Amino acid sequence: MRILVTGGAGFIGSNFLNLLVPKYPEYSFINLDKLTYAANLSNLKDIEDMSNYTFIKCDIADYNQVIDVFEKYAPDIIVHFAAESHVDRSILGPAEFIHTNIVGTFNLLEACRKSWINKNGKIFHHVSTDEVYGSLGETGLFTEETNYDPSSPYSASKASSDHLARAYFRTYGLPIKITNCSNNYGPYQFPEKLIPVMILNALEGKPLPIYGTGENVRDWLYVTDHCEAIWKVIQEGKLGETYNIGGNNEWTNIDIVHKICEVLAGEAGKSPEDFKSLITFVKDRPGHDLRYAIDSSKIQRELNWYPKETFETGLKKTIRWYLDNSNWIENIKTGEYKKWMDLNYTDRVG
Ligand code: NAD
Ligand code: TYD
Repeated sequence: MRILVTGGAGFIGSNFLNLLVPKYPEYSFINLDKLTYAANLSNLKDIEDMSNYTFIKCDIADYNQVIDVFEKYAPDIIVHFAAESHVDRSILGPAEFIHTNIVGTFNLLEACRKSWINKNGKIFHHVSTDEVYGSLGETGLFTEETNYDPSSPYSASKASSDHLARAYFRTYGLPIKITNCSNNYGPYQFPEKLIPVMILNALEGKPLPIYGTGENVRDWLYVTDHCEAIWKVIQEGKLGETYNIGGNNEWTNIDIVHKICEVLAGEAGKSPEDFKSLITFVKDRPGHDLRYAIDSSKIQRELNWYPKETFETGLKKTIRWYLDNSNWIENIKTGEYKKWMDLNYTDRVG
């Protein structure tokens, strides 16, 4: 079986490959990635020499490049992670989000439609986000039946790609599965998202920028739990179905940042106040969704998937990973990260 993983040099894709490549020597894994600022091939150093792993540089927004890969590797399963993934960047420059997330997904679907004459055993697994559902109020949960109501160019582009995937199932019978997951955290996350931004800034004694009041709520899941859920859906989920993935783990942003300060203080032998004093409230993100929370009872009931990490164990592991991987951090800091962090917040969101 040949498994084509798109965006495998990014945060979740590299965790997925690191988990599965050593576990399944009988399958070949092809990592297709454009290597944008968010990619890092050093995430894959433990598996890069394994005989069942291949890397190929390719832009999914370019159909000719995609079809070349399909002709060369004839994949049976597509696990589609590749995307522009950061809401703030989508506010500043939405065009890349339209190219990669919408046109790129369309190109992959088209390549499958044209090359999968026999669809037996084939699967296109589309990895998506709970942000397609828009914002919740104080109560309620997103289910697989919640109407789409995206707020940012990022979530609108992901919603569009979900619709395309579903349309290809209904119209062409393409073997599609979709998962919509809550916010991930863990090793190898590019430090533009909340948790790694706070860890890196705190370690450097820089301000910890909290948008608005800090009362926005996200539902956090450790990245390996997400990867295991995706693999479970690929193996046992029904074609044409959508599965929500989340860990029943809601936190306000301000509470998370306090928690990070407390864990860091424990590790550094300092007082939590040394870190908490860095907290700085900044201008709110335009269109900032108030609350995300996932009802994952379908995947629990039908596929018996449950997260293994609690927020306490996952956050400790994550902070430990960033503390133990100063080389990875130093390499990141020489590139796009510095440009992004040097923009003041108002410039960042336009
Ligand atoms: P990421 O930004 O860390 O990685 C994205 C990867 O895609 C990078 O390696 C990048 O080089 C690659 N890529 C971007 N444009 C490409 C193109 N045109 N062609 C080929 N490769 C391209 O993202 P992530 O956080 O790992 O997210 C992966 C997927 O999971 C995305 O589809 C995202 O929408 C979804 N998701 C993410 C989260 C989260 O919390 N991070 C939660 C739910 C769903
Ligand atoms: P983020 O990690 O960008 O994920 P998403 O917007 O996809 O949920 O942001 C998570 C939450 O943290 C969101 O409510 C915005 C907030 N946030 C901050 O308050 N400060 C920051 O520096 C960042 C990056 C995010």
